[in-house]
Amino acid sequence: MRTKIVAGNWKMNKNLDETEVLLSELSAKLPDTHADVIVAPTFVNLVAAQRNLQSSTIHVAAQNMHFAENGAYTGEISADMLLNIEVDTVIIGHSERRSLFGETDELLAKKTKTALEKGMRVIFCFGEELEDRKAGNHFSVVESQLKNALFSLDNGAWGKIVLAYEPVWAIGTGETASPEQAQEMHAFIRKTISEAYNDSIADKVSILYGGSVKPSNAEEIFSKPDVDGGLIGGASLKADDFVAIIKAI
Ligand code: G3P
Repeated sequence: MRTKIVAGNWKMNKNLDETEVLLSELSAKLPDTHADVIVAPTFVNLVAAQRNLQSSTIHVAAQNMHFAENGAYTGEISADMLLNIEVDTVIIGHSERRSLFGETDELLAKKTKTALEKGMRVIFCFGEELEDRKAGNHFSVVESQLKNALFSLDNGAWGKIVLAYEPVWAIGTGETASPEQAQEMHAFIRKTISEAYNDSIADKVSILYGGSVKPSNAEEIFSKPDVDGGLIGGASLKADDFVAIIKAI
């Protein structure tokens, strides 16, 4: 049985007070759920989030990290710094990191390797651009992203990897992939992992969908057999919307 996950990627939103308010609302409204619920505030609010959620089942994640232990990397955050504040889950490879900050498959492989070596759980993001899909290249693009960043990992690493398929054309656009499109790609991802590793690893890895998930579409997307939850952007910034999506899984 795969772990079901609903994760909120807050991106560069919510100051300290707004973070406290949203987390208090979420804690108060959180439904009973079998899913793993995760929130990823900005770096500056992680400690406050941990404190606010210390008696909650909601888990805190970071939105990024550097691959180095420490040192002359102005503006960066290390795995050890995150673990020091008991943040043990990190999003790596979000399309905005790739497109806006030039993060390559090679760099993401190094970040993922470091996070896993430190015992962290990695939510690894990937997905095609609209032109890739229009050209019919979306499967090869996704396969390449997985192979270049993850397929040098040993079998044991996969117990700490969560995959997040986020078609770039669906992120923040309101243009959600159809449940059928999501299922088709998730099944392809699982098959690709099975061929590169084995069925057991492929069957166990949680594959989340991200890209304009809303209360109105979550249930149908989450109902698909190879969709194990969602990585939610905009809708995670409103307690009622995020709770409605959690209820949908
Ligand atoms: O990481 C999740 C994010 O990229 C999806 O954003 O606003 O389309 O739910 P959104």
